[in-house]
Amino acid sequence: MSREGQDTCRLYTDLAWLWPMWGDAATEYAHYCQHVTDLIHQHAKRPVTSLLDIGCGGGKNVLNLKRHFNVTGLDLSASMLAQAKAFNPECKFVQDDMRTSRLGRAFDAVLMDDAISHMNRRTDFEAALLTAHAHLNPGGVLIVTPDVTTETFQQNKTSTTLAQRDDGVEVVFIENVYDPDPADEQYEATILYLIRENGCLRIESDHWSLGVFSLDTWRRVLRETGFEVYEGNYNAGEDQYVTFACVKAGC
Ligand SMILES: C[S@@+](CC[C@H](N)C(=O)[O-])C[C@H]1O[C@@H](n2cnc3c(N)ncnc32)[C@H](O)[C@@H]1O
Repeated sequence: MSREGQDTCRLYTDLAWLWPMWGDAATEYAHYCQHVTDLIHQHAKRPVTSLLDIGCGGGKNVLNLKRHFNVTGLDLSASMLAQAKAFNPECKFVQDDMRTSRLGRAFDAVLMDDAISHMNRRTDFEAALLTAHAHLNPGGVLIVTPDVTTETFQQNKTSTTLAQRDDGVEVVFIENVYDPDPADEQYEATILYLIRENGCLRIESDHWSLGVFSLDTWRRVLRETGFEVYEGNYNAGEDQYVTFACVKAGC
C-alpha cells in the first residue's frame, strides 16, 4: 500500500467484500482482543476508557474491543471503513493515513495490529509509530503486534483458508509469503482468491510488498519514539506472535 506502483491492494478495494469471510470477527478475533485488553490494563499508568485502532480495516478488532473501551477506528481504505461502520455503527471512524494522521485528540490506548505490515520502508514504519505516540495520553499504552519479525519469518509459508457464505458463495484464500532478499526489510505476500459463485469459478489475486524488521529494530525504534517497552508473546494455535506493550512517559 505504501510502495506506489507495486501493490495491488484489491482486498481493500474491489474485493473488500471478501474480508468478512476471511476469519469470523466474533469468534476468531475475540481471544486476541482479550489478550490486548489484559495487556492494556496491566501496563497503563492511567485509567483507560478510550482506544484508537490504527489500521482498523473491516472493524473485527473493534467489534471485540468496544465491549471494554470507547473505540475510534482509523484506516486508509473507504471500502474497509464502510464494513467497519456497518459492523460497529456506534463507533467513530476516520479515513486517514497512519504515517501522517493527526486527529487533534489523544486516547488512553492505541492498537496497531496487522496493518503495520504495510509499512515496508523504515521511514514509513517510524512515521506510523510516531503517529501512535502522538495520539496517546501520558501514561497511555500502545499495543503493537507485528505479523512477522526477521526472527519469526518463514520462507514460502503458505496457508489456506476455506470460507462459505449463507448465500452459497465459497472462497478459498491461499496466501504465500516469500522474501527475495533477506538482507533488506521487505517481503512479498501473494494471495489467490478462488471465488465460486453460482457454480462459476473466478480466480483473483493480490500481491503486496510488506515490511519485516528484526526484534532489535522494533525495540530500538519504539524506544526512540519515546516509549517504555514491554515484550510478551501471543499464541494462536501453531502461530506465535511477539506483542509489544509500549507506555508513553509523562504520567
Ligand atoms: C488486514 S487489514 C486490518 C484488519 C483489521 N485488523 C480488522 O480488525 O478488521 C489491514 C488494513 O491496513 C490498512 N492500511 C494499509 N496502509 C495504511 C495506511 N498507510 N494508513 C492507514 N491504514 C492503512 C488497509 O486499508 C487495511 O484496511
